[in-house]
Amino acid sequence: MFSIDNLFESQPLVNTLIGIALFWLVKYLFYTIKRIRSLPAGPWGLPIVGYLPFIRDHTYLEFDRLSKKYGPVYCLKLGVYGVVLVCDWPHLKDAVSNDALLAKPHASLLPGGGEGRSLGEMSGSPWQEHRFLSLHILRDIGLGKSTIVTLVKEEIDQFLTTLDNDGKPVDFKKKIGHSIVNNVSILLFGHKYDLNDPAAIEISAANDEIGSSLNFAGVMAFLPWLSSFVFKFKFINLTRLIKCFQIVDSHIQNEIDKHQEKNSQEVVDYIDGYLAEMKKREERNQIDDNFSIEILKKNAGAFYGAGTAAVSSTMEWIMVYLVRYPEIQDKIRSEIADVIGFERRPDYVDRIRMPFTMAVIHEAHRIGSVAPNNLLRRASSDTKIGNYNIPKDSLVIFNFWSINRDPKLWPNPDKFDPTRYLTEDGSKAVKPPYLIPFSAGKRNCPGESLANVELFLYLVCILQKYRVKVKPGTEISTEATFGLSRRPSNLPNLIFEKISNSDLS
Ligand code: HEM
Repeated sequence: MFSIDNLFESQPLVNTLIGIALFWLVKYLFYTIKRIRSLPAGPWGLPIVGYLPFIRDHTYLEFDRLSKKYGPVYCLKLGVYGVVLVCDWPHLKDAVSNDALLAKPHASLLPGGGEGRSLGEMSGSPWQEHRFLSLHILRDIGLGKSTIVTLVKEEIDQFLTTLDNDGKPVDFKKKIGHSIVNNVSILLFGHKYDLNDPAAIEISAANDEIGSSLNFAGVMAFLPWLSSFVFKFKFINLTRLIKCFQIVDSHIQNEIDKHQEKNSQEVVDYIDGYLAEMKKREERNQIDDNFSIEILKKNAGAFYGAGTAAVSSTMEWIMVYLVRYPEIQDKIRSEIADVIGFERRPDYVDRIRMPFTMAVIHEAHRIGSVAPNNLLRRASSDTKIGNYNIPKDSLVIFNFWSINRDPKLWPNPDKFDPTRYLTEDGSKAVKPPYLIPFSAGKRNCPGESLANVELFLYLVCILQKYRVKVKPGTEISTEATFGLSRRPSNLPNLIFEKISNSDLS
């Protein structure tokens, strides 16, 4: 019978086993050291968790601080992953155009968030197909065309009535949140909500809560073992977070059910377009797990979350600076007087003749940095950023914040100064190539054209009608909070004072 004693009696066998073990150990050490040496330098932190315990809420600030010590491209061990940080413009410019950096992490960004991935979490050909289809549908139903401008203008008419509160303060954050949800609802579901509709209020609140908790979920993405543990035993306030996901999810499911019942041939919204594509694939017998109701739900959720938080946060930053610097309101209003007047509603083309207004929007993007990092990327093969080697499967984060506050690019970067974009004669606003709030390259933000329309029209429509103020003595701070987006932490209620004819003369 075989026993461990017999094993050790057979000297040649022992020698062979030891030899194999040593060979594997040396090979393992060789590749580990090679991999570590090929990564850009950086702090490695503690065993198992790496640098995670040292990262506070405002991750982008810590990433920026470390770049001052380790250089513009460095590596950070976050949980089980080696993450490469890109923190200056020359390297970022190189990275956003690198096709080997278009993939997403293997693990889901939201561990425990159910089956299936949204297009924001997909890699390779499933991502390409979904991205192509999404842009195609959104373009067909009006994104980038005059249709969307008309729809946003109609929504703004409804929104403006909610600001009219006889000179009493209004919760701007709430009002703008509901209104922006409506613009995305039109694209996704083909209809909007009455601003007092309990469904709209519930979804908007759930979306908000998901947004502010996502940082935490992001941390769990670096420690898959922690996330399974946390989800299994339902630790901390996850029950509430899961509830919020369920609210958004069941609402989207409800919309999908209605669309399936309607069974319309006409594509008027994203759900119609996606269901039509699924049907086409079925008819061609193209059995494809990548196109399913589950993924449609995930995509709609991604558009909902990404399409509302970033736009409303940018509008909140604009309000902060309009109230802090009332002379900026006056200058925009004087452009409104010259180009549009106070009777006609603004059009998106008016922006071409309103350089100062556009400069205010550019500066709000820069100083607010509502997306201070991109969503995590993964290197799909060994590649390079500048002269740095990036091994396959490294995760990569672009720290837009560092570029937006780089004093070499922006003199006095903490100052809100729209004039930095104006040509000498003030006739044009020029956005420099290093201001990329929507990221750049093949995986840039697909909602950029909708966001641009929204920001211009909301800003101009508000100032055409109202002077924005706070109660005397109210502090308006530039402090930020950071979850899904970076937004003002304490935007006070705002007063929208109607502009009278005497003001205009
Ligand atoms: C001010 C407004 C917005 C800002 C600053 C913004 C910014 C961004 C950024 C920085 C990314 C990451 C790109 C990367 O990984 O390099 C992104 C991705 C994305 N955004 Fe936006 N966004 C805005 C509005 C919108 C809107 C209105 C929508 C939809 C209607 C939207 C939908 C998405 C989606 C689905 C992705 C993931 C794309 C992919 O992975 O292929 N965003 N956005």
